[in-house]
Amino acid sequence: MPLYTLHRAVEIIGTLIFLLALLTASIVEFVLRPKPTNMSHYNNTCLGITSQVTPDPFITYARGKFYFMFTAGNRVPLWEADSITDFWEEGRFKKGPVWTPPPDTNHSAHLWAPELHALRGRWYVYVAAASHHEGNRSHRMYVLGGPPDSQDPHAGPWEFLGPIRNMNQRQWAIDGTVLTIDGTLYFAYSGWPLDRPWDDYDERTQQLFIMRLQDPVTAASPPVMISHPHEPWERSGDAGINEGPQWLASQDGGRTWRGIVYSCAGSWTKDYKMNTLQFLGGDPLQPSSWKKSPRPLLQNAGHDKGPFGPGHGNFVHIGDETMAVFHATDMPNDGHGNRKCRMQRVIFNEDGPFMNYTVGPYTRDLSKFSDGHNVGKHESKGSKLRGLLHSVASKLE
Ligand SMILES: *[C@@H]1O[C@H](CO)[C@@H](O)[C@H](O)[C@H]1NC(C)=O
Ligand SMILES: *[C@@H]1O[C@H](CO)[C@@H](O)[C@H](O)[C@H]1NC(C)=O
Ligand SMILES: *[C@@H]1O[C@H](CO)[C@@H](O)[C@H](O)[C@H]1NC(C)=O
Ligand SMILES: *[C@@H]1O[C@H](CO)[C@@H](O)[C@H](O)[C@H]1NC(C)=O
Repeated sequence: MPLYTLHRAVEIIGTLIFLLALLTASIVEFVLRPKPTNMSHYNNTCLGITSQVTPDPFITYARGKFYFMFTAGNRVPLWEADSITDFWEEGRFKKGPVWTPPPDTNHSAHLWAPELHALRGRWYVYVAAASHHEGNRSHRMYVLGGPPDSQDPHAGPWEFLGPIRNMNQRQWAIDGTVLTIDGTLYFAYSGWPLDRPWDDYDERTQQLFIMRLQDPVTAASPPVMISHPHEPWERSGDAGINEGPQWLASQDGGRTWRGIVYSCAGSWTKDYKMNTLQFLGGDPLQPSSWKKSPRPLLQNAGHDKGPFGPGHGNFVHIGDETMAVFHATDMPNDGHGNRKCRMQRVIFNEDGPFMNYTVGPYTRDLSKFSDGHNVGKHESKGSKLRGLLHSVASKLE
């Protein structure tokens, strides 16, 4: 073989090897690349849950019932229904407070954002309350103890257990919630910055704090600040607000994502919104174990149709779907008035929970909401989702 031809053959073989390596690399990359969630399957329809004013909604499922609490100011309300869609119509759900505070105490007024939790075999309610005379600045977190969690929480009896034991009573605190991380109880809340002078009532900054609990009413560590409103979209004018923390984990036991979803900016504005703090693992009391998302999870869609100011709610797993429950207003200038409970789907991808960033088109029509989602042809769409909605099973607790 002439030298020239040999040279040519080596070149061709070299090129072939190179191309083969390239092909192998792209096949490997294709196979190993994380599978992106198919966003086109996300339906952003936003379903109305109540026709009544229900700010700071909290919904939980137990004993075959949906339980619903919200901010009512002078009492801790509890609604109860067989299906989450029954809260729309008076007469289809049971109403009645579980607790009304005595007059003229430090916890008699401005009862905000109550939450019902089944913990270690007993019902508990966590609620922020203040003194009528001192107002907002006297808000602290209080606990009520109810009947065993195998029993009807409406039936009681409910007893006032005081502020969370060992919690710093110098700090303003609202929106407390209990989260269980790897078997240990933690308490997360929104507070004014720690270690300020006693008479400093500057309301402009609300941060998120977490502390470990020894039991459902006793703190076992000092609070640690895990989120400060650094981002411009966490602010409204000169107020920087982080509040309404809630635990959220993907239904694969939190393997895809777990962390806190919180609300930010002014709750009185149309720009109130929700954002996430991913729990990266390690010690929840280390601020470095939490990572803030660079882009909000949910806000108004930027058009004039609304809903506006979506925020402050919690998450309910229904069948294999995860629903965000939150309040929002119909009009951009509703302020604190007219905040009503709504629901929109959440899906998970590598970046965490996804809701298409904005509140989707609002409907009261269950068949629109359930379109294309596990709805069989032979049944009326409503009845299938209705069944699904109250067959959450024991997944919640
Ligand atoms: C996401 O929101 C945009 C508007 O911001 C809308 O046009 C689009 O249809 C939505 N997509 C999904 C999958 O919901
Ligand atoms: C009520 O709050 C005040 C501080 O505003 C405190 O000094 C007082 O001890 C509290 N009372 C009770 C019964 O906790
Ligand atoms: C009281 O607390 C809220 C927290 O939701 C805060 O944002 C607000 O500015 C405070 N002031 C009044 C008068 O409500
Ligand atoms: C999403 O919901 C709308 C109703 O707003 C419905 O018309 C549409 O078919 C749904 N899309 C999917 C993919 O389920």
